[in-house]
Amino acid sequence: MSLILNGSLPSDRRVEVDLGSRSYCVHIGSGTIVRADIMHYIDGDQVLIVTNETVAPLYLEMVREQITGKKVHDIILPDGEQFKNLEALDGIFSKLLAEKHDRSTTLIAVGGGVIGDMTGFAAATYLRGVSFIQVPTTLLAQVDSSVGGKTAVNHPLGKNMIGAFHQPRTVIVDTNTLQSLPDREFSAGIAEILKYGLIADVDFFNWLEREIDSLMSRDVGKLTYAIEQSCRIKAKVVQSDETEQGVRAILNLGHTFGHAIETFQNYRHWIHGEAVSVGILMAMQMSYLRGNLEISHVHRVSELLQHCSLPVKPPSNMTIADFNKLMLRDKKVRNEKLRLVLLEKIGKAKVIETFEKEHLQSVLSEFCGPDPSSA
Ligand code: NAD
Ligand code: GLY
Repeated sequence: MSLILNGSLPSDRRVEVDLGSRSYCVHIGSGTIVRADIMHYIDGDQVLIVTNETVAPLYLEMVREQITGKKVHDIILPDGEQFKNLEALDGIFSKLLAEKHDRSTTLIAVGGGVIGDMTGFAAATYLRGVSFIQVPTTLLAQVDSSVGGKTAVNHPLGKNMIGAFHQPRTVIVDTNTLQSLPDREFSAGIAEILKYGLIADVDFFNWLEREIDSLMSRDVGKLTYAIEQSCRIKAKVVQSDETEQGVRAILNLGHTFGHAIETFQNYRHWIHGEAVSVGILMAMQMSYLRGNLEISHVHRVSELLQHCSLPVKPPSNMTIADFNKLMLRDKKVRNEKLRLVLLEKIGKAKVIETFEKEHLQSVLSEFCGPDPSSA
């Protein structure tokens, strides 16, 4: 495997997440697994590397080789969103207990968002909290799930419903790992990057639109810039609202619709970024109906998502009734009332507490087709 992607090799970038005593640095670059000095972030003598059966043959040894003079164990979990559950979490705890890991241990997540979220939650709760490091290996995890300290597992009744806020000691983003990422997973990461432009930075969105072909061909320079900007936007939002009392919810543009799709499918078939892709468009359509966006903006984003081979309609067997039921399990629901993240314009999102029910039903019927029960 060659060590660099297409394009020229940029120098390493660093994004600081400034959270007082929980501050940390996101290292971004080509080859950072080897160069980011992971040892600097490991205090105790014990380490557990958590990964899965797909990522282990690719990157486990590379990470393990960076750790010297420590007792290092690993656990290789089954691969898939459907395994992001309490049973897999129990496997991590059993390994830690069987190998007698104490409070000074460090967990290292090597993989995508599923591994990162589960490892983070295990670290948040094992012995009431131990240290952990994120080594995200999907584009989605590099720009989103590894940064900000949200950790969780799914429940059959709802996505990410059991979790904790627990910040990592550091995040090591090695863009080389994107080389082995399947196209579908790569596109899912692009959906989350587009989300950042849409919610917070119109110039970044315009840049992404202009550079979309270079990004899709995995130009390492352009990708490094897109990852850095995404992490900067995320860090800024998290710094102002670490535990999502308010503004942090804007990072969930499209997720209320998207999580409903994922739960409907029992966390199989579609991947997270694909569900988010459709959700972004549904949220934009709703923003249009409320008079905040022009319809041409919705079409523009739809074309961009399709250009990246991302879906723009929910699964064909999902009905309006499914959405209505599943969206009420969203974590943004308060007193059984749905709150939605919508766009005020491209580059500015807002959490909306009150909205016309007819607007939501009109979005659902436009995306799902008419509700057979109302015929
Ligand atoms: P994932 O973790 O399932 O990874 C996607 C697939 O890519 C898996 O099959 C994985 O084994 C494989 N893979 C990972 N790295 C690879 C590599 N370098 N080469 C080849 N294959 C590789 O999915 P994801 O999209 O990374 O993450 C989605 C999860 O992240 C969801 O559970 C979602 O809820 C969560 N998430 C969390 C946050 C947060 O803030 N904590 C934010 C966004 C998403
Ligand atoms: N991915 C949403 C958040 O971190 O808040």
